[in-house]
Formats: sequence, structure tokens, C-alpha cells
Amino acid sequence: MTALSLSLAIPAADDASSPVTDEPVALLQLDLSDPPEAASAVYREVRRGRRVVAVACGRADAPARLAQALDAIGVVAALPVPGAGLLSGGVSVVAGPETAPPRPASPPARPLRVALAGCGVVGGGVLARLLADARFELIGVLVRDPAKPRDTAIPSGLALSDPAALLAREPDVLVEAISDASTGRALIRAALARGVHVVSANKQAVGGDLPALSALAEASGARLLYSASVGGGAPLIETVRRARAHGEVVRIEAVLNGTCNFILNRLSQGVAFDQALDGARVAGFAEEDPSADLTGLDAAAKLSILAHEGAGLILPVEGIGRDTLDAQAPSGRVRQLARLEAASGIASVRLAAVDGDRLFADLDDEWNALRVTTADGRVFTARGRGAGRIPTTESVWADLSDLAAN
Ligand SMILES: NC(=O)c1ccc[n+]([C@@H]2O[C@H](COP(=O)([O-])OP(=O)(O)OC[C@H]3O[C@@H](n4cnc5c(N)ncnc54)[C@H](OP(=O)(O)O)[C@@H]3O)[C@@H](O)[C@H]2O)c1
Repeated sequence: MTALSLSLAIPAADDASSPVTDEPVALLQLDLSDPPEAASAVYREVRRGRRVVAVACGRADAPARLAQALDAIGVVAALPVPGAGLLSGGVSVVAGPETAPPRPASPPARPLRVALAGCGVVGGGVLARLLADARFELIGVLVRDPAKPRDTAIPSGLALSDPAALLAREPDVLVEAISDASTGRALIRAALARGVHVVSANKQAVGGDLPALSALAEASGARLLYSASVGGGAPLIETVRRARAHGEVVRIEAVLNGTCNFILNRLSQGVAFDQALDGARVAGFAEEDPSADLTGLDAAAKLSILAHEGAGLILPVEGIGRDTLDAQAPSGRVRQLARLEAASGIASVRLAAVDGDRLFADLDDEWNALRVTTADGRVFTARGRGAGRIPTTESVWADLSDLAAN
């Protein structure tokens, strides 16, 4: 797999998902013998804010296979016909030669010792990838019930139920994907205090204490990465950081909860609330107890993280005004919209009509979207799949790959 990053200022199309017109362009030549790996390479460029031209090498259907793997993550790719403009969208995929040039041999390095906490929807996806990648050595997996059968079996001797025993195995990195906020936060704290890098998907754990956790990481020299905790596979944190690097952030608006988005789409089609909620459960987006989603608590925790990233604000999650989504939801094209006015620090999660707003109105199922406005009027946006094993694992994996690369 070869990659070339170009800094070109080429106007993008008037597309709600990429209105910024001077993003650099990455040119990737990809071997499609492993479509998920090729899609990962594209995803990492997209989350760096680059437009991508991907040359898919292999069989004649290589471009279609890459586009399909990207769709599973939540990256929309254009397959331009010969002669059409290559850079009209965020990601363009074109057919390349049958064989890609060989990859440059990477120098042998000591694998990163990884401790995985949580082995459910997200952790299970990470486990499968860790076991197949020589850059990492899995040294322990923390779960509630080590005897539970799993999609990917935890290798013998690695399943643990005691957080202290996990850290005693001396990992370089903790991947934290457990569903319990307080255990997650305590584990992250303990890891950072020992200088262990942390990759977390747990917004309740990270969002509840981000300033203190960041300070702890800085003091110990460890890195704290949590891209998946907001937006699943949608690169929302990265987009807010890019906006802040450009200029003062004045406003953040976002759809941050896939379960509510799924339900609101069904309600707008006339489906009853209970049936819509059941549909979200069957699709794997809503948990057995969906109250954090429906009361806006989940979106508030994510907004708190974005407020810290975008404006350095410390917003206690409980202080964010929230509407609850229930059978009395307003009719029409409604979203659970998280909003921050940075100057006043006023933050809310409200059910709001979004008719005519292209970024938020046409948002499928579990998709999330974000708009950040800076003081000079510039607008940064992002969209992507906000939940689910494949996109969320991809986001965790991109954080882990960044750590491995450094
Ligand atoms: N699912 C998504 O689409 C998504 C997207 C973005 C972020 N996230 C976040 O990612 C995290 C994991 O989500 P998930 O969907 O993978 O949850 P999940 O399927 O319910 O899995 C949770 C895992 O955490 C383990 N666990 C829970 N409490 C524990 C405790 N006290 N000690 C040790 N292990 C414990 C469970 O162990 P057992 O298996 O033994 O029960 C399980 O393996 C959550 O913080 C969630 O908010 C999820």
C-alpha cells in the first residue's frame, strides 16, 4: 500500500459533507486483496481532513469493493466515470493496475503490548483485529464474565475480571471499551498515572472528567486518544480540532446520537414510538436500557467533549439543558440537536426542526453530523456512521495505528 499526500488547493463541490474548499489531497495506491485494510488507509486520511483519490489495484471490481468497505465505515466514495473530475467529492475511487507495487518493508519493531478492556460490540471488533496484526501483542482482556461465549474467542489465559490484574500485566496501551462509566474512568486514570497510553470509546468515562484526565496524561507523558467516544466512526473530534486550529470556534451544532436519529426517522414516516424504539434495538443501536440516549444524556456527554476540544470549555454534563425523546416528539423533520454557543457557554440538547438544513435533514439511521462555525464565518462539517461495530472499531483502530506509528 503506497500513499502520497499532496497539499493542493482545489475547490470541492458544493456538498454538505465537505464545504471547506482547500483541504489537502491524499493520493493512495491500494492493494484490494484486503478491502477492510485498504478502507482503513482511506479512513485515516479522511479523519486528517484530507480529500482522497484512491487508486484501487486488483480485479476489475476493486473500486466497487473499496467503495463497499468504505460505506461500512461510513465514508461515502464517488466512483467517477473515465474523464470526469476526480476531486469533486471527499473521496474518489478509480481503478488501478492489477497488481499494486510492493509495500516498502517496514523495520522490525517490538510489538505494542495492548490490554483490552471490554469485549462487546466495540471491544469484540478490536479483539479480532488485534489478533491478526503483528504490530500488537494482546496481553489481557478485561470483561465482567470471562466464561461468556464471544464472536471472537478470547485466547486462553488472557480473560480477566479484575482491572488491577489487567494493568499489572504492564501494557504499553490500554484500549478501553467497557460499558460502565465509573469502572472505565477509574481504569483510564490508573493507566495514565502509570504512563500507559489510553485509547477509549467510552464517552461517559472520558466526557465526565476530560480536563483532569488530559492533565494526568500530560503529567505522565502518556497519550489519551478517544476519537470513537464521539461520533463512532464519524471523525467529529478531529473536525472540531481542525476548526479550532483555523480560528476561534463560535458555535458547534451536531447530531450525536444514532439511536435517537433512527427513532426520529421512523417517527417522521408515521411509525409509532414503541415500534421505532424496538427497531433501533433490533438494528443493534439502542441498548436494553436506552434512557441515556432518549434523555439526551449520551449526546450531552459527547457535547461536553466537543466543547472542551473546540473552545477549551469545561461543561459539566448535568448542566446541559436537555429534551427527552418520547411518544410526544414534535412532528416533521426533527433531530436531537446538540448545540453550543461558545461565547456564552450555553449548551443544550434539544429536539429541533431541521427542515431545509441539508447537513442534518437527510441523515440515515445511525448517522451523525457536525457543523462548526468559526469567528471568520468559516464552516467545517463532518458526517459518518455514529454507532455500530465496524465504524466504531475503525475509529479505535485509527487511534491505535497512530500510536503504533509513533
Ligand atoms: N456500540 C457502539 O456503537 C458504540 C459507539 C461508540 C462508543 N461506544 C462506547 O463503547 C463502549 C463499549 O460499548 P459496547 O457497545 O461495546 O458495549 P457492550 O457490547 O455492552 O460491551 C461492554 C463490555 O464491557 C464489559 N464490562 C462492562 N462493565 C464491566 C466492568 N465493570 N468490568 C469489566 N468489564 C465490564 C462487558 O463484559 P461482559 O462481556 O463480560 O459482559 C462487555 O464486554 C461504551 O462506553 C459505549 O458507550 C459504543
